[in-house]
Amino acid sequence: MQREVGSFPIAPSIRARLVAAGFHTLHDVIDLAVSEVAGEAGISEEAAQEALQILKRQGSDSQILKHTALELLEQEQAQGCIITFCSALDEILGGGVPLGKITEICGPPGVGKTQLCMQLAVDVQIPECFGGNDGETVYFDTESSFRVERLVEIANACVLHCSLITQAHQEEGHSLAMQRFTANNILSQIYYFSCQDYIELLAHIHTLKDFLAKHLKVILTNQMTTRIEPRESFLVPALGDSWAHAATSRLTLHWEGMQRYATLCKSPGQKESTIQYQITHQGFRDVQTAHPEMDSSKPEINPRKRPREDDTE
Ligand code: GTP
Ligand code: MG
Repeated sequence: MQREVGSFPIAPSIRARLVAAGFHTLHDVIDLAVSEVAGEAGISEEAAQEALQILKRQGSDSQILKHTALELLEQEQAQGCIITFCSALDEILGGGVPLGKITEICGPPGVGKTQLCMQLAVDVQIPECFGGNDGETVYFDTESSFRVERLVEIANACVLHCSLITQAHQEEGHSLAMQRFTANNILSQIYYFSCQDYIELLAHIHTLKDFLAKHLKVILTNQMTTRIEPRESFLVPALGDSWAHAATSRLTLHWEGMQRYATLCKSPGQKESTIQYQITHQGFRDVQTAHPEMDSSKPEINPRKRPREDDTE
């Protein structure tokens, strides 16, 4: 629905001239030059410019508001998520790390934040016919912890997993996709930026504006730090509590003795839950179960989209 020019907070005399000149709705006037509006309405260019600024600013706000709840739900469902190859984690996240939203991953040193980010950098490239996103990755490294050899291991494990699905299903689409889905191609689609400080990070983000608009699924990692209080000390996310509002979801990785756990602490749609995970040679994985047929180092790719249930690796 187009908003009427008469409903905008423009000076009444100018508004009356605009409407009298035939500019009834936002659509009638929004794409015109200042001089055209001034000429048609018989007002000064300054007045026309001021009116156009109000119309554009408030008009774009009303564009944002024009979605129905159903449209928002459909958009959300169409976005999908990136699987982590840890099925327990995917489950508490509602299918994987959601696309189009900010997920903050925080936790103490050595717990696995970088490993999870590397796993996601690979997994987002899984071809669509396997239920993946066929995406690319931009990786901003602010702590010089990116290891290409490790990425190769994770990529090889991912390719092997998909090739075993291909062998099991014998589907043409899978075979075709596997011709392109190689470890080398995965690496060539991870765009790596090393950032020494936040100024460099911001500079990279600005130069990548167009690229980000087309590609980027954003993953943030937030280092934990120790907050010293008079009686005791706490481990808290280093970027502080106010930062928590910027991210849609917060995933905290933590230790319980020698075991690694992930807790979904904040999420608009999923309940708070904790699961156990491990980091293996292949990457981020479930903790092994006692049942070999449920071996979680062999995760399914997006089980909701999988055509058959008999994949084994
Ligand atoms: P900080 O960056 O220090 O805050 O830690 P982080 O949370 O990013 O930790 P990271 O993801 O680097 O995890 C480090 C842990 O991952 C190590 O302690 C190892 O247990 C595991 N890890 C790292 N590289 C490998 C590898 O090549 N093979 C295996 N199996 N495990 C690895
Ligand atoms: Mg790290």
